[in-house]
Amino acid sequence: MQEFYEKRAKINRALKLSSSVVDIKSMTFENFKMRKGCETTFEEIKDAIENFEKREKLGAFIFGETGNGKTHGTAAGGNKLIEKGYAVIFITEKDLLSRLAATKNYNNMESFNEIMSACLEADLLIWDDFMSSQRLANEEKDWIFQIINGRERANKPIWATPAEFEDDATAYKLDDKGRTWWRLMVNMNCIYNRQATNYRKSKAMARALGVSMDEYDS
Ligand SMILES: Nc1ncnc2c1ncn2[C@@H]1O[C@H](COP(=O)(O)OP(=O)(O)OP(=O)(O)O)[C@@H](O)[C@H]1O
Ligand SMILES: [Mg+2]
Repeated sequence: MQEFYEKRAKINRALKLSSSVVDIKSMTFENFKMRKGCETTFEEIKDAIENFEKREKLGAFIFGETGNGKTHGTAAGGNKLIEKGYAVIFITEKDLLSRLAATKNYNNMESFNEIMSACLEADLLIWDDFMSSQRLANEEKDWIFQIINGRERANKPIWATPAEFEDDATAYKLDDKGRTWWRLMVNMNCIYNRQATNYRKSKAMARALGVSMDEYDS
């Protein structure tokens, strides 16, 4: 019984930290269309769910064009794992860093340690828009290192959806030796949606042209 309550509390802490839960809840596999090139994301996330325990700290790094379903696919996976009773945090990098920074305000109820421990104890951390921050302060780099290093030690996975990817420059944005970056990458299955197209663009173009999305895509 005690174990049950502790598990519930952990799940709640993860949900409390997550970015706008309503939006994320609406991203499911039921409304995820199998579009050209997004099969790889789908297969990877499906595998990560089916073999969640077996994969241990093996995460997923999903990159590709804007609007091709990276956030939708990982959120859908996270929702499935929540249904299965896992503690999942879905958070955008911007939210994560501003939540940690806000703990410096003396009247903030949430302490730095509460947020950091929630990030380390969650069964899964979905890091949306990974490395999207233009410029990182040293303390932010240090927080990112703490999370990545802490989760590696705890043998827990991260799924990251980078906003953009600038070859090697990204690797050295966190520190000049690439310590943080390679700690993360060694535990990641990298998925590149080469052919996936931009859903937002298809939707907008189809509407402008007065055709269905399927017609526009074909
Ligand atoms: N395969 C899909 N089926 C249904 N909806 C999709 C699909 N791909 C994307 N969408 C929808 O299109 C919008 C953009 O998708 P999403 O946010 O997942 O893109 P993204 O790859 O994360 O883009 P960005 O790189 O800009 O963050 C969302 O509203 C999402 O629900
Ligand atoms: Mg996204």
